[in-house]
Order: sequence, then C-alpha cells, then structure tokens
Amino acid sequence: MRSAKDFFAPLAVGAPTPLREIPARPSRAIHFFDPSNAKMAAKIPDMVGKVDVLLGNLEDAIKADNKLAAREGLVSIARSTDFGPTQLWTRINSLDSPWGLDDLTTLVSEIGDKLDVIMVPKVQGAEDIHYVDRLLAQLEAKAGLEKPILVHAILETARGMVNVEEICGASPRMQGLSLGPADLAADRRMKTTRVGGGHPGYLVRQDPVDGDIDGPRTTYQQDLWHYTIARMVDACAMHGIYPYYGPFGDITDVVACEDQFRNAFLLGCVGTWSLHPKQIAIANKVFSPSPEDVAHARRVVDAMGDGTGAVMLDGKMEDDASLKQCLVMVELAEQLAAIDPELKKQYDAIEAS
Ligand code: GLV
Ligand code: MG
Repeated sequence: MRSAKDFFAPLAVGAPTPLREIPARPSRAIHFFDPSNAKMAAKIPDMVGKVDVLLGNLEDAIKADNKLAAREGLVSIARSTDFGPTQLWTRINSLDSPWGLDDLTTLVSEIGDKLDVIMVPKVQGAEDIHYVDRLLAQLEAKAGLEKPILVHAILETARGMVNVEEICGASPRMQGLSLGPADLAADRRMKTTRVGGGHPGYLVRQDPVDGDIDGPRTTYQQDLWHYTIARMVDACAMHGIYPYYGPFGDITDVVACEDQFRNAFLLGCVGTWSLHPKQIAIANKVFSPSPEDVAHARRVVDAMGDGTGAVMLDGKMEDDASLKQCLVMVELAEQLAAIDPELKKQYDAIEAS
C-alpha cells in the first residue's frame, strides 16, 4: 500500500513535484503529424497558433524503417520551433515494442522542456502507467527539468477498458484519455473494418406496421462508441482529467466526422484527434460551445443570482443543476476566447446584440 501523502512526492530524487491539478488548457484538436516526413515537418512552424495541440506521432502509421527518423525528426522540430500558445505532444511507441523505451529516453533527455504531454498507446492497466511514471521521473531528474511531463493514455484494448478507472487514477501525471477505436475494435473482435465512426449495420428498426415485416420500416443507425465514450468520460471526471474522442479515418466524410465529434463533445469530451488539416477546423468548431449556447448559459448564470432556488426562463425551469451545466459552458468559452480571437469576437458579438 502507498500512503496518500506519498502520492504527490516525486518518484526520483531531483524530479519536479507532481501537479495537484491538471491545467485545463484548450486542446480541441490534437493534430497528428509524421516527424519523419520532411514535407509535413516543414509545415509545423506555420501551424503554431492555429491548432491547440501539435502531436509528433512515432507509433502506428509510421513504418518500422522510419521509426528512428521520426524520433530524430521530432527532436529537431521541437528544438527549432517556438510553439507559443500551442502545446507539443508526442505519441510514443507501445511499451511492448522495441522502440518505446528509446522514445522516452531520447525525447525526455533531448526535448523534455518542450514536451507538454506524452501519449502512451495500448495501455492495459495501472502497471503500464506506473512503469512510465517512474521512468519519466528518473529521466526528468537527469535532464534537470522543472515541470513534470504529463501522460495521456489511449484506450484501445479490452483490458484497458475494463481497467479504465485505475488507469486514470494511477499517477498525478495522468492528463487524459483518448478513445482508440481502431485498435479497440480489433482487440474486442468487433466485426468492423474502419478507423472510428459509425457502421450502417449497427441499427435499430421500427416495429412492423400491421404485422408486415417486409413493409417500409425506418431504421436508425446507432453509435458503436457510445458505451465506451461514456465510460471513459465518467472515469476521467472522477479523477479530474480530460477525455477525448480519437481518430476518424474517413477524411473525405467531413459530415459524419463532425457528427461523431459532436456526440463526444455533448457527452463530455474536451477534444479529439485530427488526422488531416481539414479535421482541425471541424474539431475547433465542434469543441467550442456555440455563441448561442454561451449566450443562453450567461443568461441563466445572471438570472440565478446566488445559485439557490429556481427561476423560469422562456417557459423552462432553471435551477442549481442547470446553472452548474451553464457554468461549464461559460468557463470553457472564457478559456477558449482567451486563445482564439475569432471566437472571442463571436461570443462578444452575441452578447452585445
Ligand atoms: C488509435 O490509435 C486507434 O487505434 O484507433
Ligand atoms: Mg491505435
């Protein structure tokens, strides 16, 4: 057993003190790039300030022959770029791969001061987080880092799903979780062949009219990921960390992508992955509360005064619980307005109208 008092002690002599609260930094789109791809790497400085998070991907989608080049490419991009308001994250190779250890040692030693969050794929349980936690503390101490690097786990195995609560609570470094629908589908032996999103075969059908089972009957496609995202959101909320949707592989279907992102936003996620620049705009739109919702939320906050009792607004009852929901919206809008001047204009314009 570990004493509660030890939980916030550094895991290596000289390592930075763990954070007691995970900062709520905007992270609507986590944009993945391949640091071994010179064309993509050249675009990174231009993307600073236009996306909340840039993530140098070292894991899946990087060919085995390019693993070293990707790691070295990320070191060089991080060193030569001023990231300003944009966070720099990386996704390391999995802990059971031949590359994961060298990813951690190289990145923390060389660019640990630039890295905000390390995304760890295929996390199975608290033991994976404990391994990374201690290793990071040793590497941070050696590199003389002053601020702890945070850890983000991808939920993409059935065991990881079953252990989701213990993963979230395994270390004060835990920043959040992403859904990994592609690996999770494979691990669960789901019968899909896609990277995220829905499936036309997963549906419910209207009852037969007058017993005619062959007659016209409306079908409604269901969300394959509802259960998983909802569990992930609860586990994150319980531990004060942040849930994210993950990849949406059909880059051309911007409409379904927006729907999938919005479902995750409404359920409590704070952001998502972007696999292509056009998904950044979708994520920024979806994960920013709409000016209309923000205006309504501000009205409820104003009308509720000290927060007790209930009021009627436009024929609807508002009380302490709806006030709390509105405060979530208002606080998020304020955070986003502080880094996104275009959004601030929209929020201010609707306020003034
Ligand atoms: C992401 O890594 C996924 O497997 O969906
Ligand atoms: Mg995966």
